Amino acid sequence: MNFDFSEDQIMIRQTAKEFAESEIAPSAIQRDIDAVFPTEIVKKLGELGFLGMMVPPEYGGAGLDTISYVLAMIEISKVDASVGVIMSVNNSLVCYGLEKYGSIYIKEKYLTPLASGQKLGAFALSEPEAGSDATKQKTTADKDGEYYKLNGIKNWITNGLSADYYLVIASTDKDKGHHGISAILVEKGTEGFSHGKKEDKLGIRSSDTCSLTFENCKVPVQNLVWEEGKGFNFAMNTLNGGRIGIASQAIGIAEASFEAALKYSKERKAFGSTISNFQAIQFKLADMAVKIEAAKMLTLQAAALKDAGKKYYKEAAMAKLYSSKIAVECALEAIQIHGGYGYVREYLVERYLRDAKITEIYEGTSEIQNIVIARALLDS
Ligand code: CAA
Repeated sequence: MNFDFSEDQIMIRQTAKEFAESEIAPSAIQRDIDAVFPTEIVKKLGELGFLGMMVPPEYGGAGLDTISYVLAMIEISKVDASVGVIMSVNNSLVCYGLEKYGSIYIKEKYLTPLASGQKLGAFALSEPEAGSDATKQKTTADKDGEYYKLNGIKNWITNGLSADYYLVIASTDKDKGHHGISAILVEKGTEGFSHGKKEDKLGIRSSDTCSLTFENCKVPVQNLVWEEGKGFNFAMNTLNGGRIGIASQAIGIAEASFEAALKYSKERKAFGSTISNFQAIQFKLADMAVKIEAAKMLTLQAAALKDAGKKYYKEAAMAKLYSSKIAVECALEAIQIHGGYGYVREYLVERYLRDAKITEIYEGTSEIQNIVIARALLDS
């Protein structure tokens, strides 16, 4: 596969890098400590077109390809993985799903403000007893004339407090198992819809995560996305693209860890030399660099397949599995190279480790990625 980036792709990467360094970096440490949502930054991301990158301009998006999205996600996440996940959920899980499967009504009313950054979206699939086993949806959406009546609880919802529109996966027909699950768009402020407290997380602390509760929440039938009974397939197809986003987020964290370690190794002196002169450190740096390159290749491959309209779910799972694993490994090595300094907030690398861990958990744990890959191999 040829990964010579086009001029447009290089420009997008540069724009993301400059924005991340000038607008996101200055407040990243404090937002992590205080767990504060980056409202102003998200607004500016929207103005730059980074919240609906792959949506056509007719629906408010930037009309770019998935490769550009990967490059931008890496640059943003390298500086702040919390901002990375906010961006990834809006692009990959919400905008993609609405653009591919939404009616004209949904695209005009909901996708356009989401893609242009005027509104923010959330994706509500997980439940207290349906995380990895997403077919076991307990949330119900019963049709009642011109409305669906939603009842149930969703868990671990990224952008849960800050979103305006929520893509909710719910059972519309219990007897049909996963073919009785549907996707329904719910607006914030709808009667019967409330959210729980903000979770106090280990990492990505500047993004907000909470539970959602639906109690006889009435939503117009026009807000059904795709068809009744297609909600599980909708979620699976959407998550395939989401995994490319999270792989990119993980690569950003890995790159940040590597760059911090490289810089520190050239500054820190021990035994009469900078530690970069010792093979013990050089081997670690070389190892990190190889892993990051391999993760990038896997992720760009998945993105290129998606852009070419080919099957990419196995490659997306491989990219997510590997990138999240090496993000944790690179963050750990960066701490090791920093020694005691790596263990304190001032040197940033401890945040990289805390942020990296979630990439092995959300949008399917590493074990789920293995299942997706193994099934694809066995089916082929
Ligand atoms: N792509 C497309 N379709 C898929 C698919 C994929 N990767 N995996 C499964 N499907 C489809 C199958 O083709 C099948 O379709 P039909 O019945 O219509 O033919 C249907 O889904 C059911 O397939 P399985 O019998 O294989 O399903 P399963 O119950 O064995 O589960 C699973 C498969 C891969 C484990 C799936 O449940 C899964 O991916 N679970 C993880 C869910 C997840 O990622 N949750 C994260 C929540 S979102 C989040 O984290 C966002 C955030 O906040 C950042």
